[in-house]
Amino acid sequence: MRRLLIVGNWKMNKTASEAVAFIRAFQERMSASPHAEVVIAPPFTALESARNTLGPSSWISLGAQDVHWETKGAFTGEVSAPMLRELGCRYVIVGHSERRTFFGERDENIQKKVLASLRHGLSPILCVGESMAEREAGQTESVVTAQLSGGLAGLTKQDLATVTIAYEPIWAIGTGQSATTEQAVAVHRSIRLFIETSWDSKTASAIRILYGGSVTPKNIESLLASDAIDGALVGGACLIPESFVTIILFAQIQRV
Ligand code: 13P
Repeated sequence: MRRLLIVGNWKMNKTASEAVAFIRAFQERMSASPHAEVVIAPPFTALESARNTLGPSSWISLGAQDVHWETKGAFTGEVSAPMLRELGCRYVIVGHSERRTFFGERDENIQKKVLASLRHGLSPILCVGESMAEREAGQTESVVTAQLSGGLAGLTKQDLATVTIAYEPIWAIGTGQSATTEQAVAVHRSIRLFIETSWDSKTASAIRILYGGSVTPKNIESLLASDAIDGALVGGACLIPESFVTIILFAQIQRV
């Protein structure tokens, strides 16, 4: 059974004190634990105050937005997996398209980040997705498959059990133009098929594949109506307590 997963990627938003205020407002609106698993990924600087505000037994897990592949050393400005673990992170977003576009991340380094996360007990959420030009050129599947085979190279079946894939078409991120459920489902199916072909069907049917890109309280129900979509990676709409709560409440479906 794949439990739905809703991840809020805060990107470069909220100071540590704003994170505390957000979490308090969120907790007031959402006291009971939902069916879905919920993760928030604040900036590095807000992780500690987020963890302290959530408390030790929260049903909300903490994620980071990036990680370096080395454990420690002369890598100015970087943050390692053991540092994130000690702050209470369980998840880490790897290979987000904004990191690929603005910071020149390539599959080779993304794969090292995935491996480092696994080595240190973090569950990586590997982001993949095509640009509009690539979609229009009919290259969606080949682009996504290349990102998967690069980012997941060398992983075992056991490794894959702790990995989540997030399909985030670049053209849908922050544009208000979400992929339709049909478009997302088609890519999710090709991702699952790639996992089946490269590993096996058990691994493919167990892995969670999230959709991200202009997810809102308005379109979440339609996206989650398909059992090919195992949750959402939410940007803008996760920054407002009301809309993040509404999205989570739509994810009440139990998958079998
Ligand atoms: P938006 O929900 O703002 O489109 O962002 C999606 C995203 O990039 C999440 O990682």
